[in-house]
Amino acid sequence: MKTTGTYLALRDISVIFSPFEHRKLNLPTRLVMRPMARLLAQNGIPTPEMLRYYRRRAEHQLGLIVTEPVTIDDSAAAADSGMAQFCGGAALRAWKGICRAVHATPCKIAPQLCHVGMLRPASGDIPNPASPAIGPSGIDPVTREKRGETMSRERIRSVVQSFATAAAHARLLGFDAVEINGGSACLPEQFMRPETNHRTDEYGGSLESRLRFVLEILHAVRKVAGRRFPVIFRFAQYSPGWESVPLAASPAELERMLNALCEAGVDIFACDDAGVERPAFHGSAMNLAGWVRMLTHRPVITGGGVGVEYGIQGTVRRFMAHECDLVSVGRALLADAEWGSKILLAREKEITPYTERAWSRLF
Ligand SMILES: Cc1cc2nc3c(=O)[nH]c(=O)nc-3n(C[C@H](O)[C@H](O)[C@H](O)COP(=O)(O)O)c2cc1C
Repeated sequence: MKTTGTYLALRDISVIFSPFEHRKLNLPTRLVMRPMARLLAQNGIPTPEMLRYYRRRAEHQLGLIVTEPVTIDDSAAAADSGMAQFCGGAALRAWKGICRAVHATPCKIAPQLCHVGMLRPASGDIPNPASPAIGPSGIDPVTREKRGETMSRERIRSVVQSFATAAAHARLLGFDAVEINGGSACLPEQFMRPETNHRTDEYGGSLESRLRFVLEILHAVRKVAGRRFPVIFRFAQYSPGWESVPLAASPAELERMLNALCEAGVDIFACDDAGVERPAFHGSAMNLAGWVRMLTHRPVITGGGVGVEYGIQGTVRRFMAHECDLVSVGRALLADAEWGSKILLAREKEITPYTERAWSRLF
């Protein structure tokens, strides 16, 4: 039978709008909103405008919203006063309202738990300005200069505990999962990378030791959130400051990392592919998500540039090749809350294209 191009395109795209079923997390579609810092919270507290921003997007075919990065309870966790926090009564009440607003639709929601580490500027509009930036060795991931405080074991324990407390809050407030931000050059990644981790104790040196901080976070989260609460771990081969330096030098090294992360309780990997078409290693077209899925057999979220640099068809092909389970979309959703519905209904021509204008306002 001869099929028309339109028929094929519609049929293929339906994979993205099919339900995702996992023993811990069922989603109505496979479309995920990527975490994007908006810096529009007031003194760390989400505003009613933010609630409406998430709700508008939830109404348009998203399976899961991963919120903007929310800071855990540590005086140096934020890079900007506009970052929303995930601690303190007022902020948590506001997050509960956002969670409920999203749950009035079929969409699910997970906060992205974050500590920026050495990405915290030395001055400017930051909460707790007397608290210096902290990191495994106090080294700035962008300039590679030592300018912050090296974390003591005690501070490490306290930050690990704060991640766990935030996960416990997420569960109690009714969120469907948590995402630990292990990418974006934030604190967990600063521990994983030898360029920013010069420690000589049990948290530095070998790959296994550099992973220790992240594994402790995951174990602590699992302990308080329970075995059934879904934990998503976001990470990247290439992050800001490391655009051409891969996190894992080889598939074998990636496998060693992934084995430890799976053992510590990661359910789903959110792979920040810095361009969905960017290969993770030379000699293969597979992106990071594809490698992670092949090596772990756990669900993966791919994404990067979808709806901006790349059309959706490339991602559909990755679904068909069993290289991903979910696809995340960031900037395209900033400019047009209805992006998902317009893609589903083949109304692409009506999509408001992304421009940087979308950064400063909650459209
Ligand atoms: C305004 C903006 C803020 C972002 N903030 C974060 C962040 O705080 N944490 C994070 O992990 N990624 C952040 N990202 C990166 C996105 O999650 C995503 O990786 C990037 O936008 C590429 O995906 P896209 O092409 O679908 O937009 C941000 C992106 C944008 C545009």
